[in-house]
Amino acid sequence: MRSLLDARGLRVADIGCGGGIYSRAWIELGARSVIGVDSSSVMVEAAREHSSDYPALSFIIGDAAATGLTQGSVDVVFARALIHHLKDLDAFTSEARRILTHGGWLIIQDRTPEDVNLPGSPQHVRGYFFERFPRLLDAERSRRWTTEDVASAMRRVGFTTIGTVTFWETRRRYGSFNELAEDLRARTGRSILHDLNEEELRDSISFIEQKVAGNERIIETDRWTVWHSIAVRRSSMTRHLRPPE
Ligand SMILES: C[S@@+](CC[C@H](N)C(=O)[O-])C[C@H]1O[C@@H](n2cnc3c(N)ncnc32)[C@H](O)[C@@H]1O
Repeated sequence: MRSLLDARGLRVADIGCGGGIYSRAWIELGARSVIGVDSSSVMVEAAREHSSDYPALSFIIGDAAATGLTQGSVDVVFARALIHHLKDLDAFTSEARRILTHGGWLIIQDRTPEDVNLPGSPQHVRGYFFERFPRLLDAERSRRWTTEDVASAMRRVGFTTIGTVTFWETRRRYGSFNELAEDLRARTGRSILHDLNEEELRDSISFIEQKVAGNERIIETDRWTVWHSIAVRRSSMTRHLRPPE
């Protein structure tokens, strides 16, 4: 985020904030205020509990397509790992455009079909599941938006200067394979693993054990794409859309 913009003093809305890890990270980056929005009351409650030391941070229950936030009230709309849950991307980008001030940023982070399709390695453990159970890859790819899907949903509702960045984010560092196996068994934060039954899960854990043999410490990473764009002035949009006289 630091390579994209200077967050100091900005008002941020974190849509699909979950437990608020990234909402808190925006405060660490210097944001003046952050409001986290999530459709799940359980997540909002957890986010509030974990953020009591952050007075500039608040959380509300709301939908990505109808946040309830005031028009033009934030400088950044951020959404990490939200859009693969959405059926209607335009409904979200329109709402983002509505709540952003002119010149504000919409920043979306998610995985594209290309990001999820990468082969397994000790650094990309997720790829091993797909190698072992290809049906998981079909399910995973089908729920991911393409780079162009997202860029065009931004463009259609009045965003400009659209760019993308791909990067590897560290998911977790494990001191031993057993630590990784424990994390996999718990399925925490790995929704695709809920498509495996207990036996298949055990099978894939032994498959991964063979693949990573010899790596004492495992640093698990995932590849992500970040789309960034700027909200154009409504007046310039109107000018642009008006038919030539
Ligand atoms: C994978 S979690 C990501 C949480 C957080 N952004 C992160 O990266 O750690 C997706 C979150 O989006 C929320 N969500 C799903 N659909 C939503 C919607 N239509 N409107 C708002 N939040 C939604 C879920 O409740 C969940 O907390």
